[in-house]
Amino acid sequence: MYNIIPVLQDLYYVGGSDRRLSLFENVYPVPRGVSYNSYLLLDEKTALFDTVDPAVSDLYLENVAAALGGRKLDYLVVHHMEPDHSATFLRLVESYPEAVVVTSAKGAQMMKNFFPFEGKNVLTVKEGDVLSTGKHSFTFLAAPMVHWPEVLFSFDTSTGTLFSADAFGTFGALGGSVFADEVNFREEFLSDARRYYFNIVGKYGAQVQSVLKKAAGLEIKTICPLHGPVWRKDLAWYLHLYDLWSKYEPEERGAVVFYGTIHGHTANAAEILAASVAQRGAPVKVYDVAQTELSLLVAEAFRYSHVAFVSATYNNGIFLPMEQFLHDLAEHNYCGRKYALVENGSWSPQAGALMKELISRWRGMTQIGEKVTLLSSVKEEQAELLRTLGAQLAADILA
Ligand code: FEO
Repeated sequence: MYNIIPVLQDLYYVGGSDRRLSLFENVYPVPRGVSYNSYLLLDEKTALFDTVDPAVSDLYLENVAAALGGRKLDYLVVHHMEPDHSATFLRLVESYPEAVVVTSAKGAQMMKNFFPFEGKNVLTVKEGDVLSTGKHSFTFLAAPMVHWPEVLFSFDTSTGTLFSADAFGTFGALGGSVFADEVNFREEFLSDARRYYFNIVGKYGAQVQSVLKKAAGLEIKTICPLHGPVWRKDLAWYLHLYDLWSKYEPEERGAVVFYGTIHGHTANAAEILAASVAQRGAPVKVYDVAQTELSLLVAEAFRYSHVAFVSATYNNGIFLPMEQFLHDLAEHNYCGRKYALVENGSWSPQAGALMKELISRWRGMTQIGEKVTLLSSVKEEQAELLRTLGAQLAADILA
């Protein structure tokens, strides 16, 4: 049975949520599910904004038909061609062959790449082009590499509604309400929004900055993303977070201690270091990189101003979970943080030098204090060095 939710006058939510998916993009755990958003405008002309993932395609097609109520579909606007939004494209255009498909030139090419689609009835648009549906008028903004090359935003100048593709999206299914102001976003969604941003969009901070500058010139009243809730209040707060995130600036002053341990001695060192930070009144968190899901580690590293990498040496290299984590940070342009290093090795500690060599390639990273080296277990001498390093981290955080 259809489930259509009014968003604004004339605008309806016709997407759906999947709570059965375990890995989004076959990589990222989504224990709270994910929503695939689509919106239908019933103006003098009707316009549908994007399609959905196959997981919710039957509900979506039922929603579209019910919301149209026998009217024809005039436009299908495709902002983004990644299959979580485009996989139902062919079913949709076969159901509504008269609909004009509105997309970017790259989007039109991708339709042919993904589907046996001849590309008839396609209207390609570029930045600044305008589509009128009667009372509503949509201006298109190019958003290349946020996070695919064909991405478009559209802005309804009559209502101040921004259709922002994946930007401002988040993991997490919608439950009942589709509005961010009707859920406890900070408690329920913010961690997933941060994890979504840094892992999926975060590599392209410069491109997000570019589109935020364009958006700054618009009087935005509502943001309709392709995942997660619709924004109609506290927009400035969320836009500010996106600005910070895309500039790779920390959201909070504090330290995160990431450790990779084999038998527990390196964990002991990490705990001594973290306790020293906390005892001086600075915020600190601790994560075991072998026991924590990678996308959360990445998001937490970006969240804070200071990090400590504490790793055992394994096979003359960095303990593998820590090495994978560091490579993933590099892939996402990790930069501009203060960091501390601790290494362990029972006969030839090498993790510290190897971590430093990797980090030296990252922009704007500054080491705090001296690397601490353990030979197997922590002795009082190393414990004192760890406490000193913790004090240096705390002093810098609180400065
Ligand atoms: Fe939600 Fe880039 O697709």
